[in-house]
Amino acid sequence: MFSKLAVCVLLISTVYSAKQQNGQQGGPQGPPPPPFLQNVTDAARQAFFTIVSNENLTITEIDSQTATWASTYGVSDIYNEFQTNQTALETAIQKNITSVISNLSSVESSLETIFNNKDQTRSAINASISTLIQSNPIEVQVLLQLRNPMPPQGGPQGGFGGQQGGNLHRQ
Ligand SMILES: *[C@@H]1O[C@H](CO)[C@@H](O)[C@H](O)[C@H]1NC(C)=O
Ligand SMILES: *[C@@H]1O[C@H](CO)[C@@H](O)[C@H](O)[C@H]1NC(C)=O
Ligand SMILES: *[C@@H]1O[C@H](CO)[C@@H](O)[C@H](O)[C@H]1NC(C)=O
Ligand SMILES: *[C@@H]1O[C@H](CO)[C@@H](O)[C@H](O)[C@H]1NC(C)=O
Ligand SMILES: *[C@@H]1O[C@H](CO)[C@@H](O)[C@H](O)[C@H]1NC(C)=O
Ligand SMILES: *[C@@H]1O[C@H](CO)[C@@H](O)[C@H](O)[C@H]1NC(C)=O
Repeated sequence: MFSKLAVCVLLISTVYSAKQQNGQQGGPQGPPPPPFLQNVTDAARQAFFTIVSNENLTITEIDSQTATWASTYGVSDIYNEFQTNQTALETAIQKNITSVISNLSSVESSLETIFNNKDQTRSAINASISTLIQSNPIEVQVLLQLRNPMPPQGGPQGGFGGQQGGNLHRQ
């Protein structure tokens, strides 16, 4: 349930200790520290990172020890609220993934219909794909990636008549 916390906090703890070593005060990179760390003492923060950076602990053990930690330092309320938020976020992400997966096959049908109609200009194809992107940006991105598994960066190699000949309208 709280596996997100462990992962997210591990990241934070890495960023945090790297910054401490550099004497930096926190920069634009990395997620912000969880709010329950905001007003605790340095010792409490240290105790927290000792728990979450212990590679020997299971996720369940990390969750139970950090809950005890929160209680010890009087920040259980905000700790629990944060956990509830993380759980809700995870649920929302999972819901999106499920939705994208169930959308994929119908969006693929739409893409195939567009690409299989040869009686249209490339800019007409472009326009149809742009419309599809409006309603299903992630699905289109994933499907175009699968359709054209070449790295998108690297500039226009070959151009017209290049190794993609015949698929020039694919993007
Ligand atoms: C931390 O303390 C400041 C100043 O007292 C307060 O404004 C802020 O809401 C507190 N943050 C948390 C997460 O408790
Ligand atoms: C984790 O386990 C290893 C092997 O048992 C041990 O050497 C190490 O001290 C442990 N680390 C912590 C933080 O307990
Ligand atoms: C939890 O989410 C609510 C709504 O987005 C937000 O207002 C609140 O600050 C969050 N609390 C914590 C502890 O992250
Ligand atoms: C879920 O998808 C919607 C649009 O498809 C997006 O606005 C929202 O931010 C996504 N939620 C999460 C948690 O990724
Ligand atoms: C799935 O497709 C529907 C209809 O096109 C769209 O409204 C929804 O946002 C799509 N799901 C996601 C997660 O993008
Ligand atoms: C198709 O759209 C892409 C990106 O919007 C653009 O760079 C390209 O020139 C367009 N091609 C045609 C033939 O309209």
